Amino acid sequence: VLPDIQASKLKVTNTSRPLPKCEPEELGFGKVISDHMLMIQWSAAEGWNAPEIVPSGPIGLHPFSHVFHYAIECYEGMKAYKDSDGNIRMFRPEKNMERMNVSASRLCLPNFDGDELVKCIKELLRLDRDWIPQKKGYAMYLRPVMFSTTPWLGLTQCSEAMLFVLQSPVGPYFKSGYVPIKLHVDAKYIRAWPGGTGNVKFGGNYAPTVASQIAAAKAGCSQALYVYDKEEWVTEAGTMNMFFLIKSTSGTLQLFTPSLEDGCILPGITRLSVIELAKEWGTEVVEEPLPLKIVIDACEQDRCLEAFGTGTAAVLQPVGALQHNGKDYTLPEDGFAEGSFQMKMLAKLKEIQYGEIEHPWSVCI
Ligand code: COI
Repeated sequence: VLPDIQASKLKVTNTSRPLPKCEPEELGFGKVISDHMLMIQWSAAEGWNAPEIVPSGPIGLHPFSHVFHYAIECYEGMKAYKDSDGNIRMFRPEKNMERMNVSASRLCLPNFDGDELVKCIKELLRLDRDWIPQKKGYAMYLRPVMFSTTPWLGLTQCSEAMLFVLQSPVGPYFKSGYVPIKLHVDAKYIRAWPGGTGNVKFGGNYAPTVASQIAAAKAGCSQALYVYDKEEWVTEAGTMNMFFLIKSTSGTLQLFTPSLEDGCILPGITRLSVIELAKEWGTEVVEEPLPLKIVIDACEQDRCLEAFGTGTAAVLQPVGALQHNGKDYTLPEDGFAEGSFQMKMLAKLKEIQYGEIEHPWSVCI
């Protein structure tokens, strides 16, 4: 048996040139890299090499590396938070490890022991603890990424790979913050389809959506809402899973989100957490394939009370309007005001993430 990732073998090289830090308010999302990164190499002949923490910086790769030509890669998004006592807390890290292994399998990249990788990530966080913003709404975004470095233009199963964990102190994903955004239903491009890769965190799912984002911006919207087929099944919006709080014609309140079964939806960890909390609160969650018509009809009949997107980077983003076939559907303003379902949900998630209440999802390191 070839070696798996072993945290006990971790080697640390401290930086001799600390990078410049800035105030939390200047961070934005994903522009600043912290001093250190984690790097682990794999080969079919040797398995996983000893993990290394090294100063963040450029890396050299063979120009034939599969990742450049065939996009053989997968990635994760996770966050670590600093609580008011200065403790570092991760949010459900084992879920990211599970998902990354599923993504790796889909791309024929190697699997790894997620517990061991989390142990290495904890060391990385401890080393760069001064980079983690201690402010609500701010966090250390962790970007694990694995890619095939197989130096061959033949399209084959990966025989050499690299795994990195990069760290970026971040603020809100959307420049506008938690103000409601408008979604543009993309009538041209499809993000995911049955039998595709929509359910794994593969960079190739994201690259083609930049065009949709540009089209959305031209239409005066912030993000695209992706649907597929004649039924216009709702998949995701921008980089987020979608939720709609709808009152049924008989008056029951239901939280709709597209189900995972057709393989078109990324199994988001914030998505899962929202579903679990909503059920705990006694809200009926309808996790089924969702035709856009259900949402549009509800909007026309004033029964769509709230809409929001969820994701690690975005956390929970209120949606104020949808644009479909040139027509605007506006959601009620009290849907994202204080006391709304989504604002209570956002507050609960933050309480857990920032360790304001003890909760098993928050892992204090
Ligand atoms: C995340 O929400 O963590 C993502 O991976 C989306 C990315 C485009 C920022």
